[in-house]
Amino acid sequence: MTRTVLITGGAGGIGRMLLDREPRAGWRYVVLDPAAGPELERADVTAVAASITDPEAVRAAMRGVTDVVHLAALGQENLWERIVEVNVEATRILLEAARDEGVGRFVYASSHHAVGFATPAEAPTGGLPDDAAPRPDTYYAWSKAAGEAMVRLFCERFGMRGVAWRIGHCFDRPHSRERLPVWLSPGDARRLVDAALENDIDSFTYVWGVSANTRRWLSLEGARRIGFEPRDDSEVYADLFPEGSTDPREPLGGGFTTTPLGEPWVEPAGRP
Ligand SMILES: NC(=O)c1ccc[n+]([C@@H]2O[C@H](COP(=O)([O-])OP(=O)(O)OC[C@H]3O[C@@H](n4cnc5c(N)ncnc54)[C@H](O)[C@@H]3O)[C@@H](O)[C@H]2O)c1
Repeated sequence: MTRTVLITGGAGGIGRMLLDREPRAGWRYVVLDPAAGPELERADVTAVAASITDPEAVRAAMRGVTDVVHLAALGQENLWERIVEVNVEATRILLEAARDEGVGRFVYASSHHAVGFATPAEAPTGGLPDDAAPRPDTYYAWSKAAGEAMVRLFCERFGMRGVAWRIGHCFDRPHSRERLPVWLSPGDARRLVDAALENDIDSFTYVWGVSANTRRWLSLEGARRIGFEPRDDSEVYADLFPEGSTDPREPLGGGFTTTPLGEPWVEPAGRP
């Protein structure tokens, strides 16, 4: 069967990781992102430069789509009104269009910040469960928890299969020592999404998006439930960062737990 996967926000960091592969027979991708340009176009990739906040553009892009990977979002703290418009309202627009098109799988890019107040001290052996109750650390994180619940609504009502992908820290390499436990490598991100789209999965599953990190304290149970086993380990980068004391009461969300609510996030200077 031919699969056509709509990747919202596919011109961003994670979208490019997912598209960084040889074309596969029977698989096509449609990238919906205002930043999508001709450089993304390939035989198996169509780029649509439009916003998920535009219902007409979403419906047009959804035509013929079998699966959705929903990455598009404001990815940090922002004005409440903007968060609601882009992260919440547009997710509803997308889900309604997906339902009407008969989409089978919906992979939702949630975030570890949806549970940002959890601490390593509270994690049981085997790691903090994938379906840990939301403990959002910002309006941004609240919108991710709301999005998870909205995806679940559409799965339970309309028979879509959904994955709430609680992404850790997904970059080419970790940016700091604090992020080592929650790093998700590009290869593991791609394999996780492949598993969510191809394997036999439940109606709705929460999955922590983390690699097989030596310092991991988030469970891999959800990953295994969708048939995904991470391969990479952030420990290979540990020497890049000075060792220091580790407080097991330090919250998962780090700096997001204290950033002012509703104020656009400003990237700290000097970050790679
Ligand atoms: N990278 C991480 O470590 C990480 C961690 C947790 C969660 N996430 C989530 O994963 C998703 C992707 O993250 P990323 O690191 O690739 O972010 P990114 O900022 O690199 O890319 C996001 C993309 O979304 C697009 N976008 C923004 N508004 C849009 C709109 N209205 N319509 C369509 N596209 C729009 C942007 O143009 C951008 O290309 C986000 O939802 C983010 O919240 C990422």
